[in-house]
Amino acid sequence: MDTYHTIISKRDTRAFLEKPVPDDVVRRIVQAGRMAGSSKNTQPCRFVIIDDQRVKEEFAACGDFATWIPQAPLVVAIAVIGGTRAEFDAGRAAQNMMVAAWAEDVGSCPISLHRQTCAVEALGLPGDAGVPVAVGFGYRARPPKSVPEAARLPWDDYAHHNRWHGDS
Ligand SMILES: Cc1cc2nc3c(=O)[nH]c(=O)nc-3n(C[C@H](O)[C@H](O)[C@H](O)COP(=O)(O)O)c2cc1C
Repeated sequence: MDTYHTIISKRDTRAFLEKPVPDDVVRRIVQAGRMAGSSKNTQPCRFVIIDDQRVKEEFAACGDFATWIPQAPLVVAIAVIGGTRAEFDAGRAAQNMMVAAWAEDVGSCPISLHRQTCAVEALGLPGDAGVPVAVGFGYRARPPKSVPEAARLPWDDYAHHNRWHGDS
């Protein structure tokens, strides 16, 4: 798959095979997150790589839409400490990791942690940390939705030329 196709074909996956992600693949995924840029290079993100079942369960309980997380063979929580645009930086790291994983046939989906204190305590993070997003990874149990099937607003709703609804 070329780079463009890897990026646009990436769909979110919440059902996984019971097959671990090999250590070298985990390392490349996390490295892709580490190499994401950050505002003023403040590097506020820290990654917690979770494969322990109990930790996955405790952590999943901190989000409202994360019941599938304990079945993901690998979970990476993106914690942030300080930073001026930390949520944006976390998003960049998350997408880098998900696209790098997709290029190796590893599916993924982000989750929100609606109860932040719960997430911080589940992972033993410092009290001033936040967890804007985490990602569940694994080999897909089903084929992904095709690109045209992905629910997206029409092109003209997304893309504007020069000004809002500007003429071309
Ligand atoms: C910031 C963010 C938070 C998300 N949180 C959750 C979540 O808590 N649980 C979940 O199952 N999916 C979550 N998602 C996944 C979205 O539902 C998904 O990206 C969207 O439905 C598009 O999926 P598709 O690319 O496969 O069409 C989240 C996505 C983003 C970007």
